[in-house]
Amino acid sequence: MSDPRLAVVVLAAGAGTRMRSKKAKVLHPIAGVPMIGHVLATARELDPAHVLTVVRHQRDEVSAAIAELSPEAIVVDQDDVPGTGRAVEQAVSALPADFDGEVVVVSGDVPLLDAATLAGLVAAHRGAGAEATLLSAVLDDATGYGRIVRDADGGVDRIVEHKDASDAELAIAEINSGSYVFSVAALRTHLPSLTTENAAGEKYLTEVVGLLRAAGQPVAAVPVAEPWIVGGVNDRAQLSEQARRLNAIIVRGWQLAGVTITDPATTWIDLAVTIGEDTEILPGSRLLGATTIDRDAVIGPDTTLVDCEVGEGASISRSEATLAVFKAFATVGPFSFIRPGTELGGGGKIGAFVETKNAKIGRGTKVPHLSYVGDTEVGEESNLGAGTITSNYDGVNKHRTTIGRNVRIASHTVLVAPVRIGDGAYTGAGAVVRKDVPAGSLALTVAPQRNIEGWVEQKRPGSASAQAAADADGQTPAEPTA
Ligand code: UD1
Ligand code: CA
Repeated sequence: MSDPRLAVVVLAAGAGTRMRSKKAKVLHPIAGVPMIGHVLATARELDPAHVLTVVRHQRDEVSAAIAELSPEAIVVDQDDVPGTGRAVEQAVSALPADFDGEVVVVSGDVPLLDAATLAGLVAAHRGAGAEATLLSAVLDDATGYGRIVRDADGGVDRIVEHKDASDAELAIAEINSGSYVFSVAALRTHLPSLTTENAAGEKYLTEVVGLLRAAGQPVAAVPVAEPWIVGGVNDRAQLSEQARRLNAIIVRGWQLAGVTITDPATTWIDLAVTIGEDTEILPGSRLLGATTIDRDAVIGPDTTLVDCEVGEGASISRSEATLAVFKAFATVGPFSFIRPGTELGGGGKIGAFVETKNAKIGRGTKVPHLSYVGDTEVGEESNLGAGTITSNYDGVNKHRTTIGRNVRIASHTVLVAPVRIGDGAYTGAGAVVRKDVPAGSLALTVAPQRNIEGWVEQKRPGSASAQAAADADGQTPAEPTA
């Protein structure tokens, strides 16, 4: 049962000017999830009766993302009066008139704030019977944040925004994290009286604190356990800092779950990824999107997997793969480029400098060197020799290549699709295969070799080659001795 006395408001209407981006700030991803997705997940964990998001800038993109990430959230449009105070005022007016519980306010640009911290804030607020409780932090560098001004008794007196602060106030290290719990009554009473008479020309939510205190009502502040939890993302430097922190948490989580990760600093793992026990992730690897990795695999070094499925004991080295499936004990790399729709069967191999796309490669089949395999199906236990190319595109349409099981494609074969190679068939080196090859046949397409004797001495007289030929006296090189 959700908490009928709890509402969460997520602020996401700001312009995010300091990001200098076409993309709305709250849609910039960290760990593969838009920032606002992390905040909405935290809101959901509190199990409130209402989740409201306030949008304005790039409202269509932002509200589409919200609808996908948290369909139950109510989207409120902020009008052209700017400021966090106006945003919360409009969210509160979208709550049912008879709602008389507490309103948690968080920002869409504070992605690492966790539900346990907020639940603690709500409990402290309710326990103290306060009208407002804010989450505070003490920072080494408080630049940009609102400062908490305390009175002679050490109680919270008001919040002053950086832009409006005196030099003495700027020296205060205790900041407003931008996350709060208010009684809805306090908001209903004080938000309508906010003005835009300040340095930013905005209605500041933070002014409600001073108004409550002036009315003699209790306001509390609860310090956060670690300042980074409430780190806001206003620019791209802060975006990368918070992304690195979240990544460190994710990497450590997998290490404690039995995954060897040799270099956390160069390993990036998205939130949705799963990894089995005793898998090793080597330096410079990125596991992105909905990638899943089974146990005992070895990934890296320098490997990127996007939305891939990796089976038990498989290994992938110095390669890049997207939307691909690698079955148990398959091996890939180094230096291969695996495009969407690739499926490599159990124990199969994609070796060095191979590109694949829409290629279903059977169990135990090998594509060891320098190949392009696209729009292709290969049966089990076949071998595609070095330099095999499927020529799948005629300039207008893509065509399919079908190769059976236990086939031996010789080096430098071009398979001109559409074409089918039957089970157990062979091709000769350098073949350009334009017609189907029946099961068990050998396909030869290269003209028989003709040696024109004495050509060099006749046509290149006096050259070093001609001299070498004369010295050899027509002999082919001797067999190397063992
Ligand atoms: C705000 C606080 C500041 C606090 C800091 C913590 C105010 C006035 N100041 O400052 O005390 O230290 O957060 O990170 O609240 N937004 C709207 N509508 C608007 C303006 C902003 O929805 O009209 C949203 C933004 O999208 C953002 C959040 O509110 O998610 C905070 O806005 P921002 O402009 O980043 O406030 P700060 O200057 O960081
Ligand atoms: Ca901010």
